[in-house]
Amino acid sequence: MEKRIAGHFIPKNTIIIPNLYGAHHDLEVWDDPYSFKPERFLEGGGGSLRALIPFGGGARLCLGEAVAKMEMFLFTAYLLRDFQFLPASKEEPLPDLRGVASVVLKVKPYTAIAHPREQ
Ligand code: HEM
Repeated sequence: MEKRIAGHFIPKNTIIIPNLYGAHHDLEVWDDPYSFKPERFLEGGGGSLRALIPFGGGARLCLGEAVAKMEMFLFTAYLLRDFQFLPASKEEPLPDLRGVASVVLKVKPYTAIAHPREQ
């Protein structure tokens, strides 16, 4: 029997590139997807861990996911423990969340102040 994915027939040997940006901005899944709201991933925040796929999916899933998650947790936790990150000035806009399309989506350059927290 011919197998279909979401109604589409995918011929053998087709190269499929998952649209991770699209998956993370799907209005049917995410509330206000273009706003920076990390609190959506706290308990009761309405974020979907099932729909969060920054490391891709399927057979070619990122091999470094476990290492990357541990590293990012440690880096971010230490940086946020020791510094408060502030916009460079009131006039300067906050970082643009749209990024620059490349092989991967890159962040646009921006300036911020890393203000040491009092010990
Ligand atoms: C925040 C960090 C990272 C992110 C967001 C990320 C994301 C991704 C994504 C989206 C893919 C493509 C998956 C697909 O084709 O569906 C990928 C592939 C891959 N990643 Fe990562 N990655 C990260 C860190 C790492 C690290 C630290 C390593 C190695 C230690 C790594 C090793 C790989 C490898 C080897 C592949 C290719 C897997 C394959 O094609 O079979 N990644 N990654």
